[in-house]
Amino acid sequence: MKETNASFGSRALFPHLKPVAYLNHSAISPPSLPVQSAVHAVLADYAERGVDAFVSWMAQRDRLRADLSELINARPEDIGFVPNTTQGIINMAMCMPWRPGDRIVLFDGEFPTNITPWQRAAKEFDLELVFLSLAGFDDTGNGLARLKAELQRGVRLVAVSAVQFQTGQRLPLDDMGQLCREYGALFSVDAIQACGVVPVDVQASQIDFLACGSHKWLMGLEGCGFIYIRPERVRTLIPRLAGWLSHEDGLGFLFDGSGHLRYDRPIRKRADFVEVGAYNVTGFAALEASLSLIQQLGVSNIHAHVNAYLDVLEAGLIDRGFVSARADRRANQSGILSVLPPDGVALSSLVESLSVQHVSCSMPDGRLRFAPHWPNDVAEVPQVLAAIDAFIRSR
Ligand SMILES: Cc1ncc(COP(=O)(O)O)c(C=O)c1O
Repeated sequence: MKETNASFGSRALFPHLKPVAYLNHSAISPPSLPVQSAVHAVLADYAERGVDAFVSWMAQRDRLRADLSELINARPEDIGFVPNTTQGIINMAMCMPWRPGDRIVLFDGEFPTNITPWQRAAKEFDLELVFLSLAGFDDTGNGLARLKAELQRGVRLVAVSAVQFQTGQRLPLDDMGQLCREYGALFSVDAIQACGVVPVDVQASQIDFLACGSHKWLMGLEGCGFIYIRPERVRTLIPRLAGWLSHEDGLGFLFDGSGHLRYDRPIRKRADFVEVGAYNVTGFAALEASLSLIQQLGVSNIHAHVNAYLDVLEAGLIDRGFVSARADRRANQSGILSVLPPDGVALSSLVESLSVQHVSCSMPDGRLRFAPHWPNDVAEVPQVLAAIDAFIRSR
């Protein structure tokens, strides 16, 4: 489905959205009208035809695979569908051909999605986890030098989120990927806070594994995500988490008559081996519809639009004594503005008051987080600031 009427700063495709400023796209995006109609179309088709609808929607999956590969500069065959980012990372962590004593570099402050699977793998396969600080991964700091020093000690894999969920810190993926390549480490990226708002390029950043869900910046629904696996890496993985649909020609026995029900078919040496059983057909349809709007507008343009909005909001917040964690340079900015409140302002009361005043934002890990997307208009900002002023006056 190709929709043609997305435009920057327009909520025409979100007529039911109540908050006057919806700034929670880093949490869950509301479904646009095209997303809703894509889902209804799947349901209507299944309601009418039952199992016959299954085959028609297989083609939709191929289109979506192609769209996602374009989004991250990969090939369609290097994309696999998973229920969420976490499951994508679990697949990588559990299917790696680990050697006892392998070292994995992780970062303090990461969302647990990018920690728990590696912890489980460390326990199962006798690996060592090394935690680095996220400080200094900007133009001036020594983050890259610290990573390099760790890589020189011998590292099997580095796992990082492209954008940190609570601060909005955007990591220098190209530089990190280059260092990993130089020192023979694999590079794994959780991209859920980036894809759809920050350009992601698995070739430029030399990424080996990437996982992403669709309900944040891709503006799809929960329960639908994808992974990218570099083709030379997928060949080395051990498919410990395979299922009936992971086999080559795994569906044939249902359609091609007798004699095809075999249990010895090889597991696909492609990223889609992670597609283990029945598909999330509605989630795929939703994602195709939302992604089509994003691709129409262009991720770089969305990044510019969102950051023009955040420039104004950030200035207003700084004037009011908030402390911003946002990078100064456009190239280092994400879609998130995260601030700490002035002394004496209780964050939970502030967020609650903003919600009552129809400003939707969140407070992960004790920071006030604003995350606009393409439908937000900078004209909303005075209302957001007025809502903050109203709360401060009322205390
Ligand atoms: C960086 C990051 N990774 C992962 C997740 C969770 O992803 P999922 O629920 O798709 O597994 C979040 C959710 O906030 C996140 O911010």
